[in-house]
Amino acid sequence: MSIFTFKSGVCSSGCWLGSGGTLSSYNPANGQKITEITQGSVGDLEIQIVEAQKAFRNWQIVPAPQRGELVRQCGEILRKNKENLGKLVSQEMGKSLQEGLGEVQEAIDMAEFAVGLSRQLYGLTTHSERPQHRLYEQWHPLGPVAVITAFNFPVAVWAWNAFIAAVAGDVVIWKPSSQTPLCAIAVQELLQPVCEAFGHPTIFQLIVGPGKSVGQKMLEDKRLPLVSFTGSIPAGRRVAETVGRRLGRHLLELGGNNALIVSDQCRQDLALRAVLFGAVGTAGQRCTSTRRLLVQESIADDFLTALRSAYGQITIGDPLDASKLMGPLINAKAVEDFEKAIAMAQAQGGKILCGGHKIERGGYFVEPTLIEIDLNSAIVQEETFAPILYVGRYANLAEAIELQNNVPQGLSSSLFSDNFMEVEKYLSAMGSDCGIANINTGTSGAEIGMSFGGEKETGGGREAGSDSWKAYMRRQTNTINWGEEIPLAQGINFYL
Ligand code: UN1
Repeated sequence: MSIFTFKSGVCSSGCWLGSGGTLSSYNPANGQKITEITQGSVGDLEIQIVEAQKAFRNWQIVPAPQRGELVRQCGEILRKNKENLGKLVSQEMGKSLQEGLGEVQEAIDMAEFAVGLSRQLYGLTTHSERPQHRLYEQWHPLGPVAVITAFNFPVAVWAWNAFIAAVAGDVVIWKPSSQTPLCAIAVQELLQPVCEAFGHPTIFQLIVGPGKSVGQKMLEDKRLPLVSFTGSIPAGRRVAETVGRRLGRHLLELGGNNALIVSDQCRQDLALRAVLFGAVGTAGQRCTSTRRLLVQESIADDFLTALRSAYGQITIGDPLDASKLMGPLINAKAVEDFEKAIAMAQAQGGKILCGGHKIERGGYFVEPTLIEIDLNSAIVQEETFAPILYVGRYANLAEAIELQNNVPQGLSSSLFSDNFMEVEKYLSAMGSDCGIANINTGTSGAEIGMSFGGEKETGGGREAGSDSWKAYMRRQTNTINWGEEIPLAQGINFYL
């Protein structure tokens, strides 16, 4: 039984279409089917792209603050439905209820940010080298944007993209993960009446469908000038290649392999709590999850003893039971990947400090796991979407930074230290090479106000706050001559 009631097949306005095969959504806490939906097909996507082009023509000329008003009302609806939507996120994705509610809050925060932004889409102006000339840049809407999201943030990551795109004057076609179609359908159904009341019913469209067919067409189709993709590094590489081939724009949020460094000059109780949330929260299924722990030698034994004891107290179970801190993994394949990674870590010399097994009960539960291992081992270079934390020891900060940076991914990172010199070194250009570098707070749980994203194989994209909106607009430089002459720049004379 689903927490929301869904109309089957097709949304009233046709914004999510279903002429493809059936897709079942499962509750990962018990492996049981929640409900079935009809997926969209490539033909449905074609209809949606044509519709998106039409919708864009009308939406781009709506003044940006009015576009913001629509987004404000979307935020209000999400706020009113936070409880139920948060529960649905927990039911379908498996994150704890606290985190399910937090995810909806992140979408609400994003709406509020976008409303303010709708009055701040500033362009620069500068002085011309030519007399009686003016130079400025302005930002125009880009067009229909494809937003492809992952299962782990089935509501918030769409909101990062869609609310910014909407105030920018773009329209959105959303393809959510096939693991979490119901969260997407719920969002679509909740926000649809707002868009309809504004007379722009198709600015947010949804298509649930296979990546191989529907997703692939999104990547190839020139009528979608921007593809925003969240997912794995191999999938992201395909997105970059396919979209790049047609010289489209892509915005990539790919894997992380986030390290947390615990210096002997920190408050260890704070570090301990940050490690717990970072590594065990969301059952280790955030791209920002803490995957590597680097502890300074002098405190390592004590810190790891305390950490093992804290791991022993993690409550695991149905995410809708508010007393549980950790829910299941998303599916059976994720449990297999967890087991494979643990076997590989052991084969590469890793020593399990606690956990290491799947939990024999309904659903896809595993034990939160600590593995002490040489952090240069091959398995530690990989992102496994599970609550596995690889632990290593270091002698000095320079060594820790080198270890931390020595992975292909570059999303998030964190140092616990109250030593000013260490902090400055870590945040300097010679320090963390990640898109996110934190001090005395964990690797996950970023606020939406700043930009979110990472370097190296994480893909380089930036979403959410700060000036991430620029990715959703096209920049135009304007030179205006209001004089009686037509002088050339660079002092060139070209007169008859
Ligand atoms: C993700 O895991 O894809 O910083 C996004 C965080 C959240 C977003 C994570 N605000 O952990």
